[in-house]
Amino acid sequence: MSISTTRRRSATAVRTAAVIGSGVMGAGIAAHLANSGMRVLLLDVVPGELTNEEAGKGLTLDDAAVRNRLAGRAVANMARSQPALLYDSSWTSRIRPGNLTDDLALLGDTDWIVEAVVERLDVKREVLAAIESARRPGTLVTTNTSGLSVAAMAEGRSKEFREHFAATHFFNPPRYMKLVEIVPTEDTAPEVTELLEELCVSRLGKGVVVARDTPNFIANRIGTYGMLVTLADTIRFGLTVEEADALTGPALGRPKTATYRMLDLVGLDTLLHVVDNVRERSGDEAERAVFARPQLLEELVASGRLGEKSGAGFYRKRKDADGRSRIESLRLGTMEYGPQVRVSSPVIDAAKSAKGAAAKAKALLGANPKDRYAQFAWSTVKATLLYSAAQVGVIAESVVDIDRAMKWGFNWELGPFELWDAIGLEASVERMKEEGEIVPEWVEAWLREGHASFYETSERKRFYASTSGGLREERQEEDVISLAALKADGRSVLGTPGASLIDIGDDVVCLEFHSPNNAIGGDVLSAIRQSAAEVSRNWRGLVLANEGRNFCVGANLMLLLMEAQAGEWDEVEDIIRFFQDSMLRLKRLDRPVVAAPHRMTLGGGVEACLPADVILLSPETYFGLVETGVGLIPAGGGCKEAAISAMQRAGLSAAAGAGRGGATPGDLQPHLNALFETIALAKTSTSGHDAAKLGLLRPQDRTLVRQDARIAEAKRLVLELDRAGYTAPEEERVAIGGRESKAVLAMGVQAMRLSGHISAHDALIAGKLAHVLSGGDVRQGARVSEQYLLDLECEAFLSLCGESKTQERMSHMLTKGKPLRN
Ligand code: NAI
Repeated sequence: MSISTTRRRSATAVRTAAVIGSGVMGAGIAAHLANSGMRVLLLDVVPGELTNEEAGKGLTLDDAAVRNRLAGRAVANMARSQPALLYDSSWTSRIRPGNLTDDLALLGDTDWIVEAVVERLDVKREVLAAIESARRPGTLVTTNTSGLSVAAMAEGRSKEFREHFAATHFFNPPRYMKLVEIVPTEDTAPEVTELLEELCVSRLGKGVVVARDTPNFIANRIGTYGMLVTLADTIRFGLTVEEADALTGPALGRPKTATYRMLDLVGLDTLLHVVDNVRERSGDEAERAVFARPQLLEELVASGRLGEKSGAGFYRKRKDADGRSRIESLRLGTMEYGPQVRVSSPVIDAAKSAKGAAAKAKALLGANPKDRYAQFAWSTVKATLLYSAAQVGVIAESVVDIDRAMKWGFNWELGPFELWDAIGLEASVERMKEEGEIVPEWVEAWLREGHASFYETSERKRFYASTSGGLREERQEEDVISLAALKADGRSVLGTPGASLIDIGDDVVCLEFHSPNNAIGGDVLSAIRQSAAEVSRNWRGLVLANEGRNFCVGANLMLLLMEAQAGEWDEVEDIIRFFQDSMLRLKRLDRPVVAAPHRMTLGGGVEACLPADVILLSPETYFGLVETGVGLIPAGGGCKEAAISAMQRAGLSAAAGAGRGGATPGDLQPHLNALFETIALAKTSTSGHDAAKLGLLRPQDRTLVRQDARIAEAKRLVLELDRAGYTAPEEERVAIGGRESKAVLAMGVQAMRLSGHISAHDALIAGKLAHVLSGGDVRQGARVSEQYLLDLECEAFLSLCGESKTQERMSHMLTKGKPLRN
């Protein structure tokens, strides 16, 4: 039954999907649909020839293994892909490989079919015709095209098909890139567009922008324009590839890949196709001129220099005489490569040291207008801003849609209109006009109406300029709480330089870390203690979450290392005790606490989550006790909580009725083994879902698909616990593994040492960890207090701090940002 003629389906009713085309995008999309719990059929063409390997095995072209080769290989590669496409590598079981000839009829059993074959209109049309012959009415069909006409693709298909057809343009890799552009045609039923939006947002965790069916849609259209302008300006201003990259990357709030590194990744041949697509379909002469094929790109492609996939593009990697890799860059004058040259200038340094994308852009673009770098940056940015303004109402509904597309699809920190506001709309329009540019009439009219920016904020709502005049309220993503907006609105309750407690409504507060890298130091711990006291007195509960790049990368090692190097052991002990005591205050708080960690949550960051009543992870939470990497063991309660977790899993928790089902202290061992391995090897989860395998999470912990909604959801959980009559958990005496467990763990350490898997220092650290996790030299099954385990943590930590190899590891981490194996 057709969606448009029946009650609207909800996104949860979409359980099965098929993806046609198992290349880069098809495989990535299939994996991400599997991440959402869907059963996925992945189809590709039947190969025409046997590989040598297949022939060697005696297979023929009739064997399923051969016929399904393309999709089969794609699924096998998924389990090994780096970065991981699946939240859990075992979920390849949710994807069934097949081929379009033998398995076409299976499309009759799917709720959503995604076409992701090569970017050719004729091929896509053929595939859509085949899909129509097999699908049942009502099935959603979408195409993943980079920018072909969606309506042209659907020509020749039935009305019912066209009502259920649109583009869902995912960005690569689909798991990690937030943007999906949904492109309906005039025939797409509005309910279908809405359903697709709901599916992409709530099931796949994506950010959706609805785009018009124009060449390359929004992000690729503006992104490609920006690249072409940058290429032309690089030549005009006589800059090198490195100089242009230094000016169009983080200095403008854009990714490190900037322009030329990004082009190498995308593929220069692909770029030419995208450029052709706009030029051939644009009705605007000036635009067609900008989208002419740049001679330089044509030359590179003609000589087989396509970027990373061919080993050379604007950059290439070469091995020097010592076998070390070094990067060379293209000299635009000679088209030869030479050693990469570091770029530095006062303008770039000023942008680098400015805080935040807005300040960086201001520093770069507002610099001395005689500076060549500043002139280049202004020229490329100016062109992109004017082009974006001219496209509002043409390729996208609004400035918001363009800004979101560039932020979510190209990882820009600010969209063009946000950037324009940041550098000063009025002054920059004035400058553009002085330079003879034509500013779109709606922007001029907007300024004449007396506005000074495209966005205006009032009472935590953001309004944007509409091309027809007047402000429109920006539709916020549902369930998103913005701590930045609340703080700007004066809702901070208390704070230290490292953290703030913010009122997030309904008598719930959120403790936000905002120290450098969100590392936990004395000021963050003080804020935790003050917050615990404040929440107990005045609030219904506490959320631990923040909007930093990462939730928390661990404890601040700098002070610790300084004290250790100075041999100030009392000071080191004070630091540990202060950490442990702060965590205990969270654990014993008489109000519910929910932690919502996102992205990197390491070491002390994990220890700050473990006292919470519920840990709400996101798919992209990388969770791990990684202290051994810096020569230490967790000593902020991490080992103690691991021992408690082992006890609970073994069925020995007194709170849960110890010994129920005949559990004995011997049952602790497998759980201790697993936790020991997790901590000793500093294992980190590859996703929120994968974190359960570490053994640190409790049954009540969970993962929320939409990372952006984590603070609102954590608040909802706090209120739920409060309404249920929350009381703090009683302190429990912990059943421990004792001497016997320690001996088993120590034997494992010995075996790894003897087989050369670990260094002598790794073995020393692991030995201390075994001692703490098993509860030391006491009898198996003895019950100890939490404080006893904290004392063991502290003692082991102190002794490791005195080791020179541990100090080397800490110092290496602080200077190089990665662990040292010594
Ligand atoms: P790809 O070349 O990696 O994969 C294309 C797949 O289509 C191959 O597995 C091929 O066997 C299959 N195929 C070719 N002809 C077929 C036919 N007649 N029937 C069924 N399958 C057929 O290409 P990629 O990069 O995965 O692109 C797929 C689509 O996604 C294209 O439309 C592309 O423009 C679009 N896209 C690509 C992005 C990227 O970054 N690679 C990003 C967003 C969209």
